[in-house]
Amino acid sequence: SDPDPVQDFCVSVNETDAKVYVNGKTCKDPETVTADDFFFAAGLHEPHEILSPYGSRVTMAFERQLPGLNTQGVAVARVDFDPHGVNPPHSHPRASETLTVLEGKLYAGFSTTNPHDRDEKSKLYVKILNPGDVFVFPRGLTHFQFNVDGKKSAVAIVNFNSQNPGVVTAGKALFGTEPPIDREVLAKSLYLDEKLIKYLQSQTWMGN
Ligand code: GLV
Ligand code: MN
Repeated sequence: SDPDPVQDFCVSVNETDAKVYVNGKTCKDPETVTADDFFFAAGLHEPHEILSPYGSRVTMAFERQLPGLNTQGVAVARVDFDPHGVNPPHSHPRASETLTVLEGKLYAGFSTTNPHDRDEKSKLYVKILNPGDVFVFPRGLTHFQFNVDGKKSAVAIVNFNSQNPGVVTAGKALFGTEPPIDREVLAKSLYLDEKLIKYLQSQTWMGN
């Protein structure tokens, strides 16, 4: 969903003074561009060690890792799952996403916007996915994947139509902000006790 490029490429270059980019990054001088600018040995063919308590790991080839992606509107990642590992509910404000399962069995789904007003239920679209299966997560909608196998790991490749999809992890957006959201706001919004809010905000995994 990124803007269309108006030149062949615009390999991004880090300008020491530039802090804000209105759209994409500044282009490297085309005279100095080489094939390596369009290349990143991302190691997406091999498992990456899972350190997160979620039991999953996302290995990205986004613009940040691959400057040749700048203005091209695409990006790719590998997701590794431990047995019963989860990629927790999150959304990408700038990208639709396809997920292709390479190994294992994933329970994957997304929820919709609330149809007409905030008091209506969102709908959940969910599937069990096997190797070779492709599922799409529409742009901006909250989605997740869970490795249903308690013994074997799982692997998926995900593709995005943005060089920088952005990620909003649902739990962190509510309980993992800095500074924390006022407890009374969360307690009232989620029909929860303030003690439980305090507990959730204190979890270190919220800040990971
Ligand atoms: C999967 O949904 C991902 O964005 O890594
Ligand atoms: Mn995603």
